Amino acid sequence: MSYLKNPSTYIAFSCLVIFTLFCGFITDPSRLNPLFSFRKLHCQPSKTASNVTSHGDALEEALAEASMANKTLIIAIVNKAYVEGDKSMLDMFLDSFWVGEDTRDLVNHLLLVTVDQTSFDRCKFLRLHCYKLETDGVEFDGEKLYMSDDFIKMMWRRTLFLGEILKRGYNFIFTDTDVMWLRNPFPRLSSNQSIDLQISTDNFNGNQWSESNPINTGFYMVRSNNRTVSLFDSWYARKDNSTGQKEQDVLDRMMHEGVTNKLGLTVRFLDTLYFSGFCEGSRDMRAVTTVHANCCRTINAKIADLLGVIHGWKSFKSSSANDTSAFQRLKHKACKDSWKQAPVG
Ligand SMILES: *[C@@H]1O[C@H](CO)[C@@H](O)[C@H](O)[C@H]1NC(C)=O
Ligand SMILES: *[C@@H]1O[C@H](CO)[C@@H](O)[C@H](O)[C@H]1NC(C)=O
Ligand SMILES: *[C@@H]1O[C@H](CO)[C@@H](O)[C@H](O)[C@H]1NC(C)=O
Ligand SMILES: *[C@@H]1O[C@H](CO)[C@@H](O)[C@H](O)[C@H]1NC(C)=O
Ligand SMILES: *[C@@H]1O[C@H](CO)[C@@H](O)[C@H](O)[C@H]1NC(C)=O
Ligand SMILES: *[C@@H]1O[C@H](CO)[C@@H](O)[C@H](O)[C@H]1NC(C)=O
Repeated sequence: MSYLKNPSTYIAFSCLVIFTLFCGFITDPSRLNPLFSFRKLHCQPSKTASNVTSHGDALEEALAEASMANKTLIIAIVNKAYVEGDKSMLDMFLDSFWVGEDTRDLVNHLLLVTVDQTSFDRCKFLRLHCYKLETDGVEFDGEKLYMSDDFIKMMWRRTLFLGEILKRGYNFIFTDTDVMWLRNPFPRLSSNQSIDLQISTDNFNGNQWSESNPINTGFYMVRSNNRTVSLFDSWYARKDNSTGQKEQDVLDRMMHEGVTNKLGLTVRFLDTLYFSGFCEGSRDMRAVTTVHANCCRTINAKIADLLGVIHGWKSFKSSSANDTSAFQRLKHKACKDSWKQAPVG
């Protein structure tokens, strides 16, 4: 036992033993193996210590689980206010996949990003793909009334997060949960690889390439590439220089300032015939794909008026009714009234 006499030899030997025990064991460094992160941080000292920590690995795992073979997934973000109540917004959203055409399987590719513990627990309870977004101590659990400070903070947090997903090589459809998925949108989205961003509009001006279409960031599909990564970086970089604007207004302004040319982006603006909303309803229920409760201020008003949409959709589907323009005539009364009432806590 001569090595015991020399402390440095002892230490070196101990380290070797520890290294062998912890690192030599692992022959298949699967991401799913919790020891892998240990190995990465402690057993490859020559590599620069990267900060792909447990937080990052959990995200990678969630993305890999939810995505299709071509690294495409659907992302929605929810907080407590969207998962609670007799009929929550999340309930409405999931119902739409149930009553929609060719939409049920898409739930397998939905990653629900939660910003508080209640919404995370609810997500797990529903056996969905869930990811808990770290929000640096900001409480995002209340109803974020349109344009309140927290509403804007939450929107910026989501822009940063979505940029991170692009950097990891995933394409995604971002959808608000107040968007009803009545048909599978993929056939209506172009599969042309050179189209970087396909984004919904409040009103469609008839030209899918026209940048004067008023965009709505409640539903869009974005491909992961260097152009879209730059777009999200430039978008987020405006966070502290865009007082009083929500991220949608900022993107709109960036487009008017020519960001698409500057970054070489190809953007397609989605027709409300397919990707409709309360601002502009679809002309044809045989074509409608999504209905967004836009032009509306409170969650309760959205739910009330979206119930009308689901009801109308069900009767369209179940009867021989050929009233294909029923959605255009919905009055969305609760949403119209939501702009009049005083803010609620
Ligand atoms: C990793 O993150 C920790 C804590 O968030 C930070 O202190 C450290 O500087 C980071 N290291 C690198 C290499 O970025
Ligand atoms: C990925 O695959 C789905 C299903 O085949 C398809 O609809 C979608 O357009 C593909 N996504 C991309 C970005 O090509
Ligand atoms: C894909 O989109 C680009 C840009 O709009 C266009 O130039 C090209 O012809 C399209 N390719 C196909 C196969 O449609
Ligand atoms: C960005 O470009 C670099 C070099 O051209 C390439 O290696 C990388 O894969 C690209 N990233 C994405 C997300 O396309
Ligand atoms: C902030 O925005 C104003 C006007 O949009 C611009 O002139 C100014 O350079 C911006 N400042 C920074 C730090 O980006
Ligand atoms: C369908 O529409 C046609 C004309 O648009 C009308 O004559 C017919 O009565 C409608 N059928 C039903 C079942 O509503």
